[in-house]
Amino acid sequence: MYNVLKLNKIAAIGTDRLGSNYNCADSVENPDAVLVRSAAMHDMEFGDNLLAIARAGAGTNNIPKDKCTEQGIVVFNTPGANANAVKELVLAGLLLSSRKIVEGIEWAKTLKGNGDAVAKMVEKGKSQFVGPEITGKTLGVIGLGAIGILVANAAVALGMNVVGFDPFVSVPNALKLNPHVKLMKSNEEVMTSCDYLTIHVPLTPDTKDMVNAEMIAKMKDGVRILNYSRDGLVNCEAVLEALKSGKVAKYVTDFGNDMILGEENVIVLPHLGASTPESEDNCAVMACNQVKEYLENGNIINSVNYPAISLPRSGDKRICVMHKNVPERLHDALAGMTVVGMLTKSRGDVAYTIIDVAGDADTEKLAAVEGVVRVRVID
Ligand SMILES: NC(=O)c1ccc[n+]([C@@H]2O[C@H](COP(=O)([O-])OP(=O)(O)OC[C@H]3O[C@@H](n4cnc5c(N)ncnc54)[C@H](O)[C@@H]3O)[C@@H](O)[C@H]2O)c1
Repeated sequence: MYNVLKLNKIAAIGTDRLGSNYNCADSVENPDAVLVRSAAMHDMEFGDNLLAIARAGAGTNNIPKDKCTEQGIVVFNTPGANANAVKELVLAGLLLSSRKIVEGIEWAKTLKGNGDAVAKMVEKGKSQFVGPEITGKTLGVIGLGAIGILVANAAVALGMNVVGFDPFVSVPNALKLNPHVKLMKSNEEVMTSCDYLTIHVPLTPDTKDMVNAEMIAKMKDGVRILNYSRDGLVNCEAVLEALKSGKVAKYVTDFGNDMILGEENVIVLPHLGASTPESEDNCAVMACNQVKEYLENGNIINSVNYPAISLPRSGDKRICVMHKNVPERLHDALAGMTVVGMLTKSRGDVAYTIIDVAGDADTEKLAAVEGVVRVRVID
């Protein structure tokens, strides 16, 4: 029986997958795994049994990853599980940035109380809310990961010309990209050639302020900028200046801050990108599948601190060894065991070795090897 602690509400569609061999609850002593969404874990003490923490979502800032790595605890996240939810809101944002929908709705409310005159007032006043169509315009997509690819493909389907850039685009992602999306050579080339710009990259020291005054000056006049990724990617002072001059026509973002709230031609959504029931379900299913696969088979999918590794089961027992990238030191400690399968993967200074053996697993010598952090045997 495995004990799994839920620190937040995790959709039952996910936890139901764990099956009858799991005790999954809000209060569990000495858990084997923890499921979490946003609960802060930095001050938590981890019991000896804890093998995995799975974040149902993408960001893992609430989890002390270095401490977990030191203690041989695998931290999982669920990349891409909310990509469709974000994509749909980006499509809404494209239209909000183009047609004066928000302004029009607000104005229409002010006509309340005018009785039969409303229809005439609408016809007279509507010209102030004219905005261009998106078909035939160019959308620039920065970052062609889980979300960027879906946005780019959907925009092609809506008749937009789409250009994009991602210096590290993965092969599986590249294969999913609609061939009509034109790959550019740099972010600058994308930013300077589009009518609409959307950013889908993580916030890192390299990407911080990637949309800044210098870059905006090189963009097309009247460009519309969408930021559903993180606040710090766009320099808000520069955007506000550019909105005043008309260089930027609209800024739509899922990340408000005091500087931009209430400003003209800024539309701020309250971080709604992933707020759909489907996205929460997808995250829960992915997180639970990954925990189950790790606890029962030792395979690691979507970890943020250990390498991805997967080996089909063979033999009678599986030994999982977490170590400081010292695979050569493990060999002597295997003497006396019949190894039928073995795989090592590393990630920076940490590595993980799966050893399948026929017959018994004697792990005493393995655990004593210098640099070995944790040894586990799965029947
Ligand atoms: N609004 C929301 O609710 C919400 C929800 C989920 C994710 N997000 C944000 O969206 C971002 C993207 O999410 P994702 O699931 O697509 O992530 P992802 O990891 O699948 O894709 C990110 C892509 O950005 C690329 N990239 C990194 N640095 C780059 C650079 N300098 N220039 C161009 N490309 C670069 C990476 O190669 C990767 O392909 C996340 O980092 C997160 O900040 C927001």
